[in-house]
Amino acid sequence: MPRRQLYGRSKGKALRAAQAERIETMLPALAIDVGALKDGPAALFPAPPAQLMLEIGFGGGEHLAAMAKAHPEIGYFGVEPFLNGVAKLMAAIETDHLTNIRALRGDAREVLAALPDASLDRIYLLYPDPWPKRRQRKRRIVDMLFLSEVARVLKPGAEFRFATDIDDYAGWTLARIAQQEALVWLAERADDWRLAWPEWHRTRYEEKALREGRTPGYFRFIKRSA
Ligand SMILES: C[S@@+](CC[C@H](N)C(=O)[O-])C[C@H]1O[C@@H](n2cnc3c(N)ncnc32)[C@H](O)[C@@H]1O
Repeated sequence: MPRRQLYGRSKGKALRAAQAERIETMLPALAIDVGALKDGPAALFPAPPAQLMLEIGFGGGEHLAAMAKAHPEIGYFGVEPFLNGVAKLMAAIETDHLTNIRALRGDAREVLAALPDASLDRIYLLYPDPWPKRRQRKRRIVDMLFLSEVARVLKPGAEFRFATDIDDYAGWTLARIAQQEALVWLAERADDWRLAWPEWHRTRYEEKALREGRTPGYFRFIKRSA
């Protein structure tokens, strides 16, 4: 059965010459083939990084690049279907001489399916496409299969961090997490979700949400130790 398409367009405006050149020259060295993931994400780096973190749907890569810059000892791996987003990330990698990022242009569900069990120290899902209308909700990336794959690839005690500005998406995700025994919401107080986690780096989509008057919600889920 063909996979349901979750994202709309994967190509936007034509790339500018510099972006196109970056994609051509940098992507082959930094881009990962799904097949390469079976040996675990550490194998993507010349020396195994202290920790490995995945960002799903990195958009323009602002958060991924900022985290990689702040933590050169951590290996960051991003997946994003949108070519222009990948081109933006390449620009940041070039400007800041980042050597600890790898990227895959494609579907995060395929990446998760290809990763070995307990191979990641953290997964970020920041502002996934909201699909707010009732009939569109089945296109949301968060579903029970997605969460069970997230739980499978995280190491025990590792975190899945999720941000959204859509109340209904927060409720949707919490309802599914409650059915996913391996993941536990790390909330100490009822309004914890209003507080960005330490070292939060604002994304482009969050800036837009704030300009449009929506409230971000930040959720941290921990993978239970057996
Ligand atoms: C609303 S945007 C948010 C982008 C970025 N995280 C931010 O906060 O600025 C959602 C992103 O998820 C990407 N996306 C959609 N479906 C995806 C999938 N199946 N796998 C990976 N990324 C996906 C989209 O291309 C888009 O860049």
